Amino acid sequence: MAFCCLATCCKAWHTFVMSQNPLTRSMNLRRSVLSVPAINVRALEKTRLLDCDAVIFDLEDSVAPEKKVEARENLRAFFSGKPLEGKERIIRINEVSSAFGRADMELILALEPDAVLLPKVDEPQNVMSVSDLLADADAPENLRIWAMIETPRGILNAPAIAEAGRTAGSRLDCFVVGLNDLRKETGVLPLPGRTYLVPWLMQVIIAVRAYGLDAIDSVFNDFNEADAFDAECAEARAMGFDGKMLIHPAQIEAANRNFGPDEAAIAEANAVIAAFADPAAEGLNVINANGRMIERLHLVQAESLVHKARLIAERQTAK
Ligand code: COA
Ligand code: MG
Repeated sequence: MAFCCLATCCKAWHTFVMSQNPLTRSMNLRRSVLSVPAINVRALEKTRLLDCDAVIFDLEDSVAPEKKVEARENLRAFFSGKPLEGKERIIRINEVSSAFGRADMELILALEPDAVLLPKVDEPQNVMSVSDLLADADAPENLRIWAMIETPRGILNAPAIAEAGRTAGSRLDCFVVGLNDLRKETGVLPLPGRTYLVPWLMQVIIAVRAYGLDAIDSVFNDFNEADAFDAECAEARAMGFDGKMLIHPAQIEAANRNFGPDEAAIAEANAVIAAFADPAAEGLNVINANGRMIERLHLVQAESLVHKARLIAERQTAK
């Protein structure tokens, strides 16, 4: 009861409580995470106007080897321009061990995005070696690490990689699933419903939830197939993903809608909060809410959902 009252009375306390809640750990909206090839200046500029929660500036697979230098220069110019307001900025680099890794890391240190996204993370060491590089360079603490989980070893080691996030100074914040690479490596066909991929997707979810990270679902390649994309977002939301990696502006609205709570869910969450705030519920851990049992764990979920709805509303009014 005290938990609930304090949370509603004091914004600072509420923020603290939410940050302790594993369901709201990152405090960031990550419903729509749009990838944009760093080589495409027109698309880079477009991101300023788009309603996505985060942008991944890609230096890896979408940039040809002979264009890597130009792509880095584009990002230098973009980051020195008008700030990208209200969106997380993530730069996806090439593998650190590749011919491009060193120059990519130098760019990360120069631009200080919100996060560096590491491709093809196979084992905890891939994360920890970049954590060490950032620490050695005195990179700001809020420069985080995101990891692409997109190889067979990445899936097998997902729990150990996520656990590395517990190591002091690891900076690990979020997993992004990459199914194009995973399908290529495993031979699993791109069938609707992703039947044969679901066990691996859920392995990623249980790993991130065990260690307090976020998880972003893979891209959906057919950006003209709006209904199929909508269905895949709904499926990913039901699996527990926080958002979806996108490749095209046409996918933003569906991602925001599917990964944000709808009116009915917000109303239900507020009803749970009100039920526990009722003096009659004092000292009770379970309540009969019109024929349905609700427990205090549902209160935590409801607080989390209302918190997310508030972040979305604040984003809308800031525009
Ligand atoms: N980010 C920002 N703007 C984008 C965009 C993106 N990812 N994808 C397309 N756009 C813009 C285009 O620049 C175009 O703008 P314009 O009308 O002002 O010229 C508009 O959206 C419509 O684009 P469209 O003509 O439908 O597509 P396209 O042929 O320009 O691009 C892709 C299609 C797939 C090449 C492009 O969407 C893309 O590069 N996506 C990201 C790929 C990526 O990051 N891959 C790596 C991760 S898997
Ligand atoms: Mg990939």
